[in-house]
Amino acid sequence: MAMLETVNLYSGYGKLKVLFDINFRANEREITVVVGPNGAGKTTLLNSICGVATIHGGRVVFEGREITGESPHKVARLGIAYLPQMGNVFSELTVEENLLIAGYLLPKREVKDRVDEVLDIFPKLKGFLRRKAGTLSGGERRMLAISMALMRRPKILLLDEMTTDLAPILVKKVLEKVVELRDRLGLTVVLVEQHAKLALEIGDWAYLLVSGTMRFEGEPEELLKHPQFAKLYLGIAR
Ligand SMILES: Nc1ncnc2c1ncn2[C@@H]1O[C@H](COP(=O)(O)OP(=O)(O)O)[C@@H](O)[C@H]1O
Ligand SMILES: [Mg+2]
Repeated sequence: MAMLETVNLYSGYGKLKVLFDINFRANEREITVVVGPNGAGKTTLLNSICGVATIHGGRVVFEGREITGESPHKVARLGIAYLPQMGNVFSELTVEENLLIAGYLLPKREVKDRVDEVLDIFPKLKGFLRRKAGTLSGGERRMLAISMALMRRPKILLLDEMTTDLAPILVKKVLEKVVELRDRLGLTVVLVEQHAKLALEIGDWAYLLVSGTMRFEGEPEELLKHPQFAKLYLGIAR
């Protein structure tokens, strides 16, 4: 079942038109991967869902309920966690403080349980609780950022280019964690990725966005074999 969908969505920023007639669905307990060249509108798709972009037409539906143009905090309250591309942690605060801040809206007695829950999924962070987040490696910082999003037990996680600038081995590790989130927590994930091939390997369903329009929707393996995909991604690599 689609947990989140856009129906004939047109959006952009102010008068600027970026997305054209986008029909996108993210099914429950699946990893939906969105790939496409720089500037294609991938971030704008997430921004449109989360109330950051301007909607020119169409609808955004979450759990059967229309949320088109709702404010970012309202969208967050419904259980949609958005980790923006440049989304980061508070470098001057410790790992623990970052987690506590992420849970600041929760009832006090729940916070500790949630921290324990999150550390159970990212055990590596246990050793870093007193360290300033700014001293973590790139990979560890991404893990902390995901942990912060998980503090509120979201229903769906929107991840925008979590693995950019990471060494290949770390890219794999972060993506393995995403699989674990799906399998252990039953989380629904929308994964926007620059590392298209690796992301498609873990995805359940895939979209290819080019110049603001959806060019492909289907099984990730099919997209990997798609002639346009190879062309675009070879283009990007150069
Ligand atoms: N905040 C913004 N205001 C105006 N234009 C924007 C903004 N963010 C992105 N754009 C424009 O929207 C288009 C799509 O960008 P974006 O969604 O960031 O693409 P992608 O994430 O696929 O690289 C680009 O032409 C970009 O310049
Ligand atoms: Mg982007």
